[in-house]
Amino acid sequence: MSAGKRGALIIFEGCDRSGKTTQSRLLVELLKSKGIPALPMNFPERSSSIGQVINSYLTNSKDLKDEVIHLMFSANRWEHMNQMKQKLLEGHTLVVDRYSFSGVAYSSAKGLDFDWCYAPERGLIKPDAVFYLRAPPNDLTNRGQYGEERYEKVEFQSRVAKVFDRLCANEASYWHQFDASQPVDELHARIASITEELLPTVATQPLDTLS
Ligand code: TMP
Repeated sequence: MSAGKRGALIIFEGCDRSGKTTQSRLLVELLKSKGIPALPMNFPERSSSIGQVINSYLTNSKDLKDEVIHLMFSANRWEHMNQMKQKLLEGHTLVVDRYSFSGVAYSSAKGLDFDWCYAPERGLIKPDAVFYLRAPPNDLTNRGQYGEERYEKVEFQSRVAKVFDRLCANEASYWHQFDASQPVDELHARIASITEELLPTVATQPLDTLS
């Protein structure tokens, strides 16, 4: 990539088992195969000390107040911001499995106030695109290993889906919604085509922040 051209921040969002991990992997592989520098990331990033606490919480070996775990998820993103900014400015496209919107969706699905949940996300790097994989939670329960982690309950995931729908409507300018039940290859082709149009457009734009 030539000097001054940045990479794109691309986020995959959706309920548990909606296919985000597969689609983000396919997108990174495609970009790399075309010689475009691309790096996969995911939140929560479980290797940092904050990430390890989050992991203990998610695997039910630790209990924390809803507000506390919410702020830890957010802190986990903040602790990676400098590194993400540097990579983007060097020209890497970051393909990220979950971001601020999961933070808002899961915590407000528990009953925390939507605006309170969004507040700590303000100031983080704004994504250039969010690919929202939407499927009725009932369709997701028969996917592999469903139910092993704390939030993998159909009724809870339905509430999460409603918040994602609200975020998608609020942030329509950069969100792209897809039916997660369509074949993996078709979904990948649609995502690839949007990404290929996006990269040259954002390359000369400054990074923005969530507000
Ligand atoms: P994962 O399965 O994508 O690793 O995510 C683990 C769980 O953490 C998933 O159920 C969604 C939840 N989560 C939050 O509650 N808040 C957040 O900020 C993030 C990134 C994930």
